[in-house]
Amino acid sequence: MSSSSSTPQVKKRILSGVKPTGKAHIGNYLGAMKNHVSMQEDCENFIFIADLHSLTTVKNKKELQELVIGIALDYLALGLDPNKAVFFRQSDVPEHAELTWVLNCITPMSMLELAHAYKDAVAKGQKEINAGLFTYPVLMAVDILIYKPDLVPVGKDQKQHVEIARDLAGKFNWIYGDVFKLPKPYIEDEVAVVIGTDGQKMSKSYGNVIEIFAPEKELKKQVMGIVTDSTPVEAPKDPAKDTVFKLYSYFAGADEKKSLTDKYETGGYGYGDAKKLLLEKLLDHFRPFREEREKLIQDLGRVKDILIKGAEKARETASKTKAEVWDVTGLSI
Ligand code: ADP
Ligand code: TRP
Repeated sequence: MSSSSSTPQVKKRILSGVKPTGKAHIGNYLGAMKNHVSMQEDCENFIFIADLHSLTTVKNKKELQELVIGIALDYLALGLDPNKAVFFRQSDVPEHAELTWVLNCITPMSMLELAHAYKDAVAKGQKEINAGLFTYPVLMAVDILIYKPDLVPVGKDQKQHVEIARDLAGKFNWIYGDVFKLPKPYIEDEVAVVIGTDGQKMSKSYGNVIEIFAPEKELKKQVMGIVTDSTPVEAPKDPAKDTVFKLYSYFAGADEKKSLTDKYETGGYGYGDAKKLLLEKLLDHFRPFREEREKLIQDLGRVKDILIKGAEKARETASKTKAEVWDVTGLSI
């Protein structure tokens, strides 16, 4: 039965951010950015560049500025539409830093000691672990809670952070009364962990990336550098165990995957051939985005303007949440 007088459906609100600490790679694209762009069609979309987060590691002015502009260009080139999504820079919305203090004051140290970014730094014996890295999950919790989203689309590595945000929201609400909505991570299974050129999780910090906007020569170097086993060209190969095949699968259609599987299983087809096929696939897939990015670079003024307007829109929501927090905590008199 259909109803012609159906009430308009309330759009789900999503929020996510990417930390500008390096160039965007296939893991970022498949695990996060691609979803962020496609979800703008059916959701109310808040996407931001987490530049405050980058300060925990990036200590050079020019580098930070370039990384921020780089991520902005990437998102816009990938199709993020500032008329559909609220696209902004974290530091342009001062409420993020302000509310972080309030949440810091209800966050147990023991919770932060279990957070993986800090634990990894300790495990690696990192010499200087700054307080920013330690309290990173609190800023991230605020990033999320301030916009009261229904879903937070991220890669699997960020699941723990979203759970911390949920715990802190619950604790705040319990102490002060209901202000925050409890957020849920949204993680797509097939791309939860995209592997890198060495077969481990692809990550800027592991130097095993394939960058989506690298110049063609560099992209070729990254693809050709994928680590494979030493099965000789003539021997049959197991596609399920091979990184080149796995990366190709993310972008290939069912027929293309079947055709490459046959070649692997028959033998006489080398990993070098498969890498060339993957390179072509990546160039084809990203060509329109690469072209768009080249155009956008010509007008950085427009890009900065988009971010400023985005921050104005974001502040409409952020300032309301701040007012609620100030009210229930007693910070407003
Ligand atoms: P990196 O590990 O390279 O520093 P970030 O931490 O900046 O990446 O991640 C940005 C977004 O991309 C996050 O939502 C994260 O979950 C996602 N992401 C990063 N690497 C991967 C990966 N290998 N597979 C799937 N998603 C990823
Ligand atoms: N920590 C995330 C990352 O490393 C970036 C991020 C910061 C984020 N704040 C967020 C992601 C809020 C989702 C929601 O990629």
